[in-house]
Amino acid sequence: MCGIVGYVGKKQAAPILLDGLSKLEYRGYDSAGLAVREDQGDFRIVKAKGRLKVLAEKTDNGKALRGTMGIGHTRWATHGEPSENNAHPHVSNDGSVVGVHNGIIENYKDVKTKLLRHNYHFYSETDTECFINLIEFYTHKYNLGPIHAITHAMMRVRGTYAVAIMFKNEPGKIFVARKDAPLIIGVGKNENFLASDVPAILKYTRTVYYPDNMGVGVLEADKVTFYNVDQEEITKEPKTVTMDAKAAEKGGYRHFMLKEIHEQPGAVRDTINSVIKEGKIDLSSVGLSDEELKKLSMIYIIGCGSAYHVAVATQYVTETLARVPVRVELASEFRYRDPLIAENSMAIVISQSGETADSLAALRLAKERGMSTLAIVNVVGSSIAREADHVFYTLAGPEIAVATTKAYSTQLAAGYVLALQLAFVRGAIDEKRRDELIEEICSLPDKITKVLDDKERIQWFAAKYSNAQDIFFIGRGIDYAISLEGSLKLKEISYIHSEAYAAGELKHGTISLIEDNTLVVGVLTQPSLFEKTVSNMVEVKSRGGYLMGLTTYGNYNIEDTADFTVYIPKTDPLLATSVAIIPLQLFAYYVAVSKGLDVDKPRNLAKSVTVE
Ligand code: AGP
Repeated sequence: MCGIVGYVGKKQAAPILLDGLSKLEYRGYDSAGLAVREDQGDFRIVKAKGRLKVLAEKTDNGKALRGTMGIGHTRWATHGEPSENNAHPHVSNDGSVVGVHNGIIENYKDVKTKLLRHNYHFYSETDTECFINLIEFYTHKYNLGPIHAITHAMMRVRGTYAVAIMFKNEPGKIFVARKDAPLIIGVGKNENFLASDVPAILKYTRTVYYPDNMGVGVLEADKVTFYNVDQEEITKEPKTVTMDAKAAEKGGYRHFMLKEIHEQPGAVRDTINSVIKEGKIDLSSVGLSDEELKKLSMIYIIGCGSAYHVAVATQYVTETLARVPVRVELASEFRYRDPLIAENSMAIVISQSGETADSLAALRLAKERGMSTLAIVNVVGSSIAREADHVFYTLAGPEIAVATTKAYSTQLAAGYVLALQLAFVRGAIDEKRRDELIEEICSLPDKITKVLDDKERIQWFAAKYSNAQDIFFIGRGIDYAISLEGSLKLKEISYIHSEAYAAGELKHGTISLIEDNTLVVGVLTQPSLFEKTVSNMVEVKSRGGYLMGLTTYGNYNIEDTADFTVYIPKTDPLLATSVAIIPLQLFAYYVAVSKGLDVDKPRNLAKSVTVE
């Protein structure tokens, strides 16, 4: 996520802004910038690609910018490559409005079209520049002052935002507005602060305001005023921040992994909303035409680790819906296998970081072999994103924990949408089935939330198994894909040996490992395979295994077999991975926590494996 900061008071603003941005670095970013209103009223804007220290060097640690009011930004790219041009702050065409933004303006293209009709021009690829120019447009159109211009813009855009804005003709005032993005106002003595998160202001004050959703605020050196979206002044009570800076960085969660597990509903929603608009799939941002999809004869889905597990789940969904052969490949195998490639095939490379060496090599090999390539990537401008023919950006935001959760979930969502569009354009499903699945995909964030709200039982059960030596996950079809990811999550953060097995395969050898009280997690989200997997669980039970069942509400007969059961909300079986993986992420997390391990930075692991 991006980070925004602001200051208005008696001190020089730039050093305070840089300090605030340094406390938001944990949010992940690829560029940064400052805008300071100089004493004679002009805006000085300085931006830099890369780490914050580049910006600090460009501004002599802020000393080169003179002024007691300013805003700053660290950018995690969602629209437009990481570059100085795309970095914030962004300034409007006539230079009268400058602003920074955290969030996503989903309908920025419509806004841009409208402004282009009014002879606006743009220097960046960002949604934010559109938003800032829209505000300028409304200051001229309504001539009613900044609050009206801002609230009109809020009514016109769709998406999420926390913005801080300065107007040329409003000295001493910083305007803020938010919708579904974090924003905090810090209250000092004859100085006031704004930031995306508490750590950026804790050094100066613990007295804060939390602006309302769809609210507007005006910061001046000696006061903060709030308005609602109808431009009516409202009164707000200040609060006192009690948490320390470290806790604040994690949003109050104990680890980044738990925070990111809880960010999944929003991340999945953002990713879905980037390609499903008004109930219809729009892959224009991915650049994949219906013609390209129609002529595909085969699809290879390639990745490593959890990205590979997404590939396995996506294979089931794609083949079931689109009846197109899909081959899943471990990138490290594909790159050395001298693969035989079918005519008119596409390689889909999945990678959170976009820098995994094996996945990048696999992409290059696919291109050498004449395949069209699509990358499903979370990091804008990463190597895999840049080298693929097409890119589907997941909007998970920065993922700090080594063990992926929200990026994995957004990759699944991307896979569903691609499979659905492929199936529909090829006539493999009709409009009714397409719309049914679109509706179901859009319901996933709420279903994920429901599982998260019910995590206590999993926490209790996990604590019982922190001393386990071996834990098995079994399932059939998509449940096997779910088992793969559940097992990896457990292994990589708890260091407990675990295996995922196709349930029907267990009896061909591995079942010999089952001993008294060996925990076996049976995943049963696929109605057509339910009874078969239950039989496999019975085989395990008869050999002394302890069974956890993971299934959907209503399948209460599982309690005749399982010793402990976790229920999840029903969804279309093809989409079950998105909901069923949540309890398994939580299980792995709580086991690792009960073992006192470094959940966010497990031993021997890197967030992105950029070496072979
Ligand atoms: C997942 O929790 C692991 N951190 C690891 O398996 C990861 O999925 C794999 O290294 C691929 O990384 P990428 O998605 O950045 O390419």
